[in-house]
Amino acid sequence: MDKIGIYVHFPFCVKKCNYCNFNSYANKNDMQLKYFQALLSEIAMYKNEKVEVDTIFIGGGTPSVMFDGAVSTVISEIRKNFKVLESAEITIEANPNSITKTKIQEWKECGVNRVSIGLQSANANTLKLLGRTHTRQDYIQAIKDVQSAGIHNVNTDCLIGLPRQKLSDVRRMLGLVTKLDCSHISVYSLILEEDTPLFHMVNSRQVKLPKEEKVLGMYNFANKFLNEKGFVRYEVSNFSKDGFECKHNLNTWKMHSYLGFGAGAHGFFNNKRYSNVETIEDYIRIINISQKPIKETEKLTKTQMYEEFVMLGLRTKFGINIKHIQEIFGIDILKKYAEKITYFKKLGFVDIENGNLFVTDEGMPVLNKIILELVT
Ligand SMILES: C[S@@+](CC[C@H](N)C(=O)[O-])C[C@H]1O[C@@H](n2cnc3c(N)ncnc32)[C@H](O)[C@@H]1O
Ligand code: SF4
Repeated sequence: MDKIGIYVHFPFCVKKCNYCNFNSYANKNDMQLKYFQALLSEIAMYKNEKVEVDTIFIGGGTPSVMFDGAVSTVISEIRKNFKVLESAEITIEANPNSITKTKIQEWKECGVNRVSIGLQSANANTLKLLGRTHTRQDYIQAIKDVQSAGIHNVNTDCLIGLPRQKLSDVRRMLGLVTKLDCSHISVYSLILEEDTPLFHMVNSRQVKLPKEEKVLGMYNFANKFLNEKGFVRYEVSNFSKDGFECKHNLNTWKMHSYLGFGAGAHGFFNNKRYSNVETIEDYIRIINISQKPIKETEKLTKTQMYEEFVMLGLRTKFGINIKHIQEIFGIDILKKYAEKITYFKKLGFVDIENGNLFVTDEGMPVLNKIILELVT
């Protein structure tokens, strides 16, 4: 039986952060129950798929703002309709100030074994500027509560490249996260998303973003600091202790299949990418007429599959397997891209080990250029 992942989207947030354009909504909590019921129906629509589930990712939005019992019932519904492996990794995303001891207990009892908490910044002024509703102390308490309940696979999301952020802020943030013994840390560079409040603040010069070289300095610092603390960068933005890599994301990057449930969720199944309708209202309406809420489906061509495979693979420390590419796509990359690979290798930007071509630490700042050269 094919192994797949499942992604479930909860699009509710207490407040919309100033930088975020994910499919998430504040002030729609009165729709939680109807959304939850629709989600259960959508999951049941896929019950005939003969697959085994090895990862579940409950993401958002903020799944931890859902009413008590919602997450465990959704996981039960998944178990009722699919064979979930005993060893499955089950992750939930949470915000520091919506995690309660009751919720943690519920998650633990229904098999959640990985919690991903969004800190973003440990600086009180920056948290305020970002429109976050929690404090540094809320984060510390949340991590401690999760760990004392016996969940030790814990991720923290951090942001770099923030307005007014200094290298010393990054040092303090990562110092805090590593002191609290997280097993996984994501360090994302801020993307200034159009039409977010932060976008307007930057455009009207109310705040300034650090220059590109400064952000690169923060990123290199994070890599060095986390390495010294026993973390390995296994993907551009993801660092983990040995054995704590996020299996769900690794599978996605390896282009394994996954089903996505919920408003705006994406899936990749039978070599087709699909995405669901985005608004909560449309999602509920379509499910209530017993249809799948799919907005778009795209069957990937072999070329598109190759491009995605190279792009996603080169973002990871494992890189791309040369023999594997020959077998799947019939492309001998060492021959087709001989000149470019030799050039990047000479500069120390890529290397080959055990039949895998990968981007080195030195090559990371020019990763996108390397990817582009190997897909055109
Ligand atoms: C969609 S959020 C869900 C998690 C949770 N609601 C939270 O805020 O912590 C997942 C992660 O995406 C990252 N993110 C959101 N907007 C971003 C942006 N504009 N640029 C870079 N990363 C972003 C944040 O680090 C966040 O933790
Ligand atoms: S960053 Fe998280 S909490 Fe903030 S709006 Fe986006 S999804 Fe919601």
